[in-house]
Amino acid sequence: MHLAGRHRSSATEELQVIAPSKLAIEEVSKSFQSASGTVLALDRVSLNVAEGEFVCLVGASGCGKSTLLNIIAGLEKPDSGTVLADGKPVTAPGRDRLVMFQESALFPWLNVFGNVLFPLKLKPNLTNKDRHDVAKYYLELVGLTRFERANIHELSGGMKQRVSLARALAPNPRVLLMDEPFAALDALTREQLYGDIQEIWKARRKTIVFVTHNVREAACLGDRVLIFSPHPGRIQEEFAVKLPRPRDINSVDLAGYATRITKALKSLGKTATG
Ligand SMILES: Nc1ncnc2c1ncn2[C@@H]1O[C@H](COP(=O)(O)OP(=O)(O)OP(=O)(O)O)[C@@H](O)[C@H]1O
Ligand SMILES: [Mg+2]
Repeated sequence: MHLAGRHRSSATEELQVIAPSKLAIEEVSKSFQSASGTVLALDRVSLNVAEGEFVCLVGASGCGKSTLLNIIAGLEKPDSGTVLADGKPVTAPGRDRLVMFQESALFPWLNVFGNVLFPLKLKPNLTNKDRHDVAKYYLELVGLTRFERANIHELSGGMKQRVSLARALAPNPRVLLMDEPFAALDALTREQLYGDIQEIWKARRKTIVFVTHNVREAACLGDRVLIFSPHPGRIQEEFAVKLPRPRDINSVDLAGYATRITKALKSLGKTATG
């Protein structure tokens, strides 16, 4: 079939591991007006994230982590400063940079399969068969093949976050932005997901910016852990985590990093939970 100059994609092409993006956040500031005055959520924050790097952001509530993530996603605009993804300014949301939130934002009227399929429907170059194959691949990657016909309300919190992860991965973004994705889950479910996310990150090569209040989680997942200080929100300190992967959340070495990071957080006058 002739497709009038349009490139016809295939499931195999769609599933290729593509190069992750590099991010450059340059002097980004953002303030909000509220009843109690102006809040400087981010004050000239600069940060470089390398291709395929896993960066974790920790810091007290209200120090601007979600604001920064939303600006990288293109969901919010900074007052000043720029975000570059692969050298190009981010001005709007794009399929190259997808966000996964704490509360799963799944569509309750679609089943598990339908939710993962949904973002693929926005890809005009794929046939329906290709879209199905791609969705199946990601459901298998997150271990939910058995539940593909389940309704969202039948799933546990951990399963919902797995569906959210599959849905975020399905369009093959170069950057994954994760805002406390595991915060509402029990410890055991979280531990399983730490293992899975490390495997998926290795297999699919994404640049990940991951927000968490859980210092151990940050040390388990991140190449670097950045500590934010609040009011005004700034990056205060950074820790490079030089442990081999896959990392075990319960390892002694990891606990050592977590202790140092927690100390740094406390010295900012705030405590982190988790
Ligand atoms: N849409 C908004 N309108 C007004 N103020 C806002 C808005 N979004 C964020 N803020 C304020 O900006 C500051 C940073 O908020 P942000 O949500 O980025 O913090 P956070 O680090 O993600 O916090 P948490 O850890 O609780 O999620 C806070 O003081 C918050 O009240
Ligand atoms: Mg937040």
